[in-house]
Amino acid sequence: MSDLVVVSDDGPVRTLRMNRPEKKNALTMAMYDAMAAGIEGAGKDPALRCVLIAGAPTVFCAGNDIGDFLTTASQGGALGAPILRFLYALARCEKPLVAAVQGNAVGVGTTMLMHCDHVVASTEARFSTPFVSLGLVPEAASSLIAPRLMGQARAFSLLVMGKPLNAEEAKAAGLINTIAPPDAVEAEALKAARDIASLPPQAVLASRHLMRGGPDEIVARIDAEAVEFKSRLQSVEAQAAFTAFMMRKR
Ligand code: COA
Repeated sequence: MSDLVVVSDDGPVRTLRMNRPEKKNALTMAMYDAMAAGIEGAGKDPALRCVLIAGAPTVFCAGNDIGDFLTTASQGGALGAPILRFLYALARCEKPLVAAVQGNAVGVGTTMLMHCDHVVASTEARFSTPFVSLGLVPEAASSLIAPRLMGQARAFSLLVMGKPLNAEEAKAAGLINTIAPPDAVEAEALKAARDIASLPPQAVLASRHLMRGGPDEIVARIDAEAVEFKSRLQSVEAQAAFTAFMMRKR
């Protein structure tokens, strides 16, 4: 397993920590695979009752590695198997998912939160999904979940217009539960994860399933988005946006 994702178990709580701070936790294929494996493994282990997703003190996740997007596009454009594996793992996970967000959550850094059951974010957290300005479309079933969560108008502003949300706005939109000072975010998230893990596990699983329904609708939307994403990745618009980002400091 890559040390770019650190997996640690503490009693019934598994923590998955994205650990590439020098690249703002931009996710590579190996990181998606490691995150997926961590979630899938927790699902199979009866001793684990909750999964906590965390980033670095300065950044949660800057989304997909844009250099990887360029490579992917040159190889035919399909979303890589590790990305789909991660998205399916989120959709199919039966254990509660908690997240601790500090700093920026960009792209999949924000859309993965739509699969979480409890999100604690820092007062400084910022959520953005610049898919369309990158020539892309929303992913991770966010095109389905976000309008349900926050209504069409706010979802359009976030997912299509690319308007970021600060912590207060994210809370009002139903994307996060709690706002904490930066140095208290992880402790609060861990406490929430432990609180959830201390509840009767079968009742938690059954309640969660009743609230969410099965994963089929979410998985179908992930697949539909992936078809559109593939053609967008190869578009002139996307290629220009990726190249501009990669070249911006040179
Ligand atoms: N893919 C690849 N590299 C990325 C990245 C990404 N998504 N996000 C950040 N990085 C890299 C930068 O290229 C830079 O690398 P370098 O030091 O080798 O030049 C390093 O991480 C630090 O990033 P920087 O932009 O200098 O940090 P910042 O604090 O000024 O800004 C962000 C942080 C997250 C706001 C900014 O990096 C950003 O907008 N990233 C792109 C986010 C994005 O569009 N993701 C795709 C969504 S679909």
